[in-house]
Amino acid sequence: MARILPISDPDTLAVAIEALQRGEPVAVPTETVYGLAADATNPHAVTAIYEAKGRPRFNPLISHVADLEMARAHVVFSPLAEKLAEAFWPGPLTLVLPLSASPGIHPLTTAGLATAAVRMPQGFARDLIAGLGRPLAAPSANRSGRVSPTTAAHVAEDLGDRIGLILDGGPCPVGVESTILAVDDGRLRLLRPGGLAVEAIENIARMAVERPEPDSGQAVIAPGMLASHYAPDAAVRLNASAALPGEAVIRFGGVPLAGEAEARVVMDLSASGDLREAAANLFDFIKRADAAGATGIAVAPVPMHGLGEAINDRLSRAAAPRP
Ligand code: TXA
Ligand code: MG
Repeated sequence: MARILPISDPDTLAVAIEALQRGEPVAVPTETVYGLAADATNPHAVTAIYEAKGRPRFNPLISHVADLEMARAHVVFSPLAEKLAEAFWPGPLTLVLPLSASPGIHPLTTAGLATAAVRMPQGFARDLIAGLGRPLAAPSANRSGRVSPTTAAHVAEDLGDRIGLILDGGPCPVGVESTILAVDDGRLRLLRPGGLAVEAIENIARMAVERPEPDSGQAVIAPGMLASHYAPDAAVRLNASAALPGEAVIRFGGVPLAGEAEARVVMDLSASGDLREAAANLFDFIKRADAAGATGIAVAPVPMHGLGEAINDRLSRAAAPRP
C-alpha cells in the first residue's frame, strides 16, 4: 500500500521531490482535485502515470508549472493567453497553447499534439513544482474512467495498491477539475467546463467563449472528453423530482425530493444553493452513494450558471451509458 504523508509534515516536500526525481509518480493535492504527478519531461515517469491509471496514451496530460517563466519555456503565449494567465494563475484554469520551438515537455505528455495543456496550481502543488524545477504532468489521481478524487482517502481507495506515495492536503477546496480553454487565433474555446466559471473568463477577456459542439469535429482537440467518465457503480438519474426506495438522493438548495424518506442516504450539495459549495461536495457525494450500496443515484436539478456548468457536465458524464 502507498505511504500517506500529510503536507504539513516538515519532511514531506523533500521526500516528494526525491520520489519525483527518481521518476516515480506521486499523488498530490491541488485546489481542484488530487493529481497523479510525475516529471513531465521524463518519458519513464510519464509512462508510469498512464500505467497506474490504466489511461489510454492518446489522451494527453496537463503540465503544471510553478511560474510564468517555466510555462514560457514550453509553450507560446499570445497577448490574450498572457492576460488570462495573469488574471487567473495560480488557479483552476488550464490553457491549451502551441508548443514552443524546443519544448522540454515530453511528447508522451502531450500525446504527440502540437499543443500542450498548462496550468499553474495553488499552494503546496506549486511549491513542489518549484522545488523540482520542472513541470509536473498530472491527470486526476483516479483509475481511468472513475470519479476524480477530492481527498487522500479517495486516492488510496482507487490507486493505493498501484503507487508508492500519496500526499494528504485534506479535502480539495474547488472540488471539480480545472476549466480547459484553447486559446488560438484570438479565439477562446471551452474544451472542458471546470472550477473557473466561464463568466469570469469572459469578463477579463472581454469576448465570448465559444463552446464547440461535441459532433463538430472540433471536439477531437480535447481527446479525453469521453462521454462515459466519472462512472460510479450505481446508475445515475438526472433531474429527479422523486426518489425510488433504495436510491441515494443528491439534492440541491435544501429542496427535498418526494419519497426521500425511503432513500438509502440523502445528501444536499448545498442547502443554501451555493454552487461553489456544491462543486466541492460533488465527487465525495457520488462516492458516498456507492459506499452506501445504493441501487441508483437520484440527482435533483442544478442551475447552469457559474460552477453549475461544470457540475452538470460531470453529472451528465456520470449518467452516460457505459461502454
Ligand atoms: O484540475 C485539473 O485539471 C486536474 C488537476 C490534477 O490539475 N487535472 C486533470 O487532468 O483533470 P486530466 O488528465 O484528468 O484531464 C486533462 C484533460 C483531458 O481531457 C485531456 O484530453 C485534455 O485535458 N488535454 C490535455 N492536453 C491537451 C491538449 N494539448 N489539447 C486538448 N486537450 C488536452
Ligand atoms: Mg481525469
